[in-house]
Amino acid sequence: MSLSTVSTAPTALTTPAAHPDLEGLRRQDPELAEVLAAETARQADALQLIAAENFTSSAVLTALGSPLANKYAEGYPGARHHGGCELVDIAERIAVDRAKALFGAEHANVQAHSGSSAVLAAYAALLRPGDTVLAMGLPYGGHLTHGSPTNFSGRWFDFVGYGVDPESGLIDYDQVHALARSHRPKAIVCGSISYPRHIDYAAFREIADDVGAYLIADAAHPMGLVAGGAAPNPVPHADVVCATTHKVLRGPRGGLLLCGTELAERIDRAVFPFTQGGAQMHTIAAKAVAFGEAATPAFTAYAHQVVRNARALAEALAAAGFAITTGGTDTHLILADPTPLGVDARTARGRLAASGIFLDTCALPHDDTRGLRLGTAAVTTQGMTAPHQARIAGLVREAVREDTNVREEVRELVGGFPPYPAQPGAVGSEDDAESCNHRRYP
Ligand SMILES: Cc1ncc(COP(=O)(O)O)c(C=O)c1O
Repeated sequence: MSLSTVSTAPTALTTPAAHPDLEGLRRQDPELAEVLAAETARQADALQLIAAENFTSSAVLTALGSPLANKYAEGYPGARHHGGCELVDIAERIAVDRAKALFGAEHANVQAHSGSSAVLAAYAALLRPGDTVLAMGLPYGGHLTHGSPTNFSGRWFDFVGYGVDPESGLIDYDQVHALARSHRPKAIVCGSISYPRHIDYAAFREIADDVGAYLIADAAHPMGLVAGGAAPNPVPHADVVCATTHKVLRGPRGGLLLCGTELAERIDRAVFPFTQGGAQMHTIAAKAVAFGEAATPAFTAYAHQVVRNARALAEALAAAGFAITTGGTDTHLILADPTPLGVDARTARGRLAASGIFLDTCALPHDDTRGLRLGTAAVTTQGMTAPHQARIAGLVREAVREDTNVREEVRELVGGFPPYPAQPGAVGSEDDAESCNHRRYP
């Protein structure tokens, strides 16, 4: 793919705050600078409806691009295998303290490199190879780490999958209980890549207690909503909570583990040295920044707006002819079947991408076909509200049916909501500085 095919807007003139020193990079390495500028433009020039994506703040990007990236820091604060860790120790302690306060957890490990690494560490802490684990089946929305044969989880553990009710699309807690009783798993995992409703963590806890299983909540998707008080908190119910720090939580790409004091040491050892080496201190500093942002009233307002927007978008998509799994959403996630419009999901995704609307396809729980998975985390960060969702649904329908070419309309809509302010003094920054006020949540 050549850059000219992905670069949808002029990239040479503006220096958005996403790239404080793009010009310096351009002088040294114009080839790479052009990729960064083109991707920044692509993100700003299209509708980003991928449910796992968001726009981190400039402060998070600053921490990510800082010299903390240079520091090796194997171990934990106060007990490192390298010298010179005193300052990064402070960053990690801040991140840990903020995560504990944000989610009400006794212990936090902020070193997991990703959501998958966090789940791997949870299994490593609690299970032995060959143990039985009960998790949502992949066709119903389970993640690869919940037993896919292509993943370490499916290779090393004996996974049993639970599903959802074929009519309602909701988790059938009686089925989960029956499977738990017949298979006696060592751990039960609750969490999904596409389940749009709140999970009843108390019900999972009861089932786990009944069969003597650990309860692992993989809350990668809803964790940002939990931080903002817009979704139930798994921490009081689960033995271990795994999460990503990106998605709705809007931090850097990374993982997080939360647990009680009694499992703290096992979790820490499962991350380092069992599954990882040196902690990535720039990412940990960026996590600390994101946790700080997530503790503000502005983030609480953001999280609730994400859900309001998702509900409005689900309703508008239903009115536009899509079949919405579970009839709506409690979260940032929507699972929509385009079949009633006469188009399969893969074709729909391609047509949408050609129109500047990005989303994923995802397994539909009720049959073998795929649906479209959409999320409102990114458009909400940009400042879009419920009335914009009707327009988005209209654009999605037109693009899927190829009624009209909506590329320019998409460009016009997102043009009013730039994800990053322009840097003061940058060429072309006057207009951008004006319109960046739409970014309502830091
Ligand atoms: C439920 C769930 N678990 C784990 C992950 C893995 O996260 P990562 O992509 O950071 O490894 C994801 C990512 O989407 C997820 O949705």
